[in-house]
Amino acid sequence: VLAAHRGLRGGRLRLAVATTAGAFATRVLAAFARRHPGVRLALEIINRAELLARLEAHEADLAIMGQPPAGAPLRARPFLDNPLVVIASPEHPLAGQRRIPLARLAEERFVLREEGSGTRGALERLFAGHGLVLRAELEMSTNEAIKQSVAAGLGLAVVSLHTLELELAAGRVRILDVEGFPLMRRWYLVQRRGRRLGPAAAAFAAFLPEVAAEMVRLPDGVAPTGREAV
Ligand code: PGA
Repeated sequence: VLAAHRGLRGGRLRLAVATTAGAFATRVLAAFARRHPGVRLALEIINRAELLARLEAHEADLAIMGQPPAGAPLRARPFLDNPLVVIASPEHPLAGQRRIPLARLAEERFVLREEGSGTRGALERLFAGHGLVLRAELEMSTNEAIKQSVAAGLGLAVVSLHTLELELAAGRVRILDVEGFPLMRRWYLVQRRGRRLGPAAAAFAAFLPEVAAEMVRLPDGVAPTGREAV
């Protein structure tokens, strides 16, 4: 306890986080940096496939990502829910409709994340599981670009609720009421199995689960119900 209050005197933390977790990871990291001003921090924001490669190459101490594949030599601890929702422009004909069937979405154009994104993988698995085909004509590698495209009426998208705070408050996008959504994923803190964490990484691994729930506030009125685990 004393050490935590005094702060670490040095050390280095190389944290790699999923694109989608970038929105809250910077906030958590800022709080960590205030507590441990002596620690050198490097934050990399990349997609799921790239995170797995970083861990594999020992180029990150810790990663924040969706559930890693079974069988990988990784240690993963879940610390927070990650609800995925369908968004549309407020002018979209489906906005405001109740209990939209999943099959209805197969008729719509989606703005998708790039191959290798965990969010995209979850959506693809949901569609495939229902024998539906996703129209993949538009791909973008950042949630920002996707939200702006949706607001501009380019199509629908599935994004984490953690990325939507500002857009919902500003009324730029609407969450659609679709069967099977929110699609529940979870955030995991991941490291290589058998790897000893340095003091800075160990301190962060203890800090994150303590503060995550309180620091990562979901937008009001859209509390997830969690129907499906992916
Ligand atoms: P991503 O998110 O879509 O930014 O790769 C990671 C995940 O949900 O697994």
